[in-house]
Amino acid sequence: MSPSSITIDRHISPDETGDAVKLEIVRAMTAMPKMLSPKWLYDDRGSELFDQITRLVEYYPTEAERSILNEHAAEIAAITNATTVIELGSGTSDKTRTLLDAFWKNEQLELFVPFDVSDQTLVDAAEMLAERYPGLDVHAVVGDFNRHLPQIPKEGHRLVAFLGSTIGNFHVEERRAFLGALGDTLEEGEWLLLGLDLMKEVPRIIDAYHDASGVSEAFALNVINVLNREFDGNLPIDQFCHVPYWDPVEERVDSRLRVTMPMFGRFEALDLDVAFNEGEELRIEVSSKFRDEKIETELADAGFAIEQFWKADGPTEDSPPDFGVILARRV
Ligand code: SAH
Ligand code: AVI
Repeated sequence: MSPSSITIDRHISPDETGDAVKLEIVRAMTAMPKMLSPKWLYDDRGSELFDQITRLVEYYPTEAERSILNEHAAEIAAITNATTVIELGSGTSDKTRTLLDAFWKNEQLELFVPFDVSDQTLVDAAEMLAERYPGLDVHAVVGDFNRHLPQIPKEGHRLVAFLGSTIGNFHVEERRAFLGALGDTLEEGEWLLLGLDLMKEVPRIIDAYHDASGVSEAFALNVINVLNREFDGNLPIDQFCHVPYWDPVEERVDSRLRVTMPMFGRFEALDLDVAFNEGEELRIEVSSKFRDEKIETELADAGFAIEQFWKADGPTEDSPPDFGVILARRV
């Protein structure tokens, strides 16, 4: 068999400090409340910390989703007949191997497209996959799925996988825009495989974002290091504490970094002084938990018909299901 080929398209350079990005951070740090895109969590260190999170006993989504993929990967390959698999927010593509194994076994997979903002993590994953599947074309895309969806490759019959409940990291209006853009990008008859964390007992959810060993806190605080490094800043990381606030109306964890005392800092590269009042928070991420009706309606609005909705059991017989994976067709 011929060796795999790897190509890498970069829509974001490794040190993107262009005017649009600068403006984004200036806006984020001067808004009321201060609010960042969660993509800033994922430099190399952030991606490594997220990988550690996926192994925590408290962080149930990864294993729950893996159990669904293990059970249904062959069915997904058979139903979709996809020859191109695109994975958005692919990270290490760890769970995706289960899926790709099933496509590979059927000898139907021609192209895999991992797509992520985190450059080195993506390159490492692409190399690992090219070695695992000799002959497979791996076309990695370093991009922002809020901006660069139209640039995903068009070859073959496509399945877009969006796993890990990363869809939960959008605010409601962003989620609508994202699903709409994805619907516009896919052709009729192409596929979406969507992993989503389901609504359940709130303490169990909070524990997943506030683990005993402090990895989730380190992941959250690392964003201050990212900003300081990228924009020549001096925000003192030790003056922030991590607050995973549960929003009962939106049914999501709203992760924030709160300063315990008034704080002043500066980003030289932005020519920006930043002030925090005592107790002020920087919002860094939301992690929404889904109910069936909500996601079913949103998918239908974006032009998708649900073919399968698999669920992983919760921890006890009385618990609601932990996690869902939806296979939907663009209609
Ligand atoms: N899919 C993996 C990783 C989830 S972590 C899993 O299920 O475990 C979320 C991933 O999305 C990270 O790898 C992060 O770098 C990526 N990501 C976050 N925001 C992004 C954006 N705007 N565009 C592209 N990738 C993004
Ligand atoms: C990637 N994303 C779905 C994770 C989540 O659960 O929101 C990121 C994360 N944040 C804190 N822990 C994990």
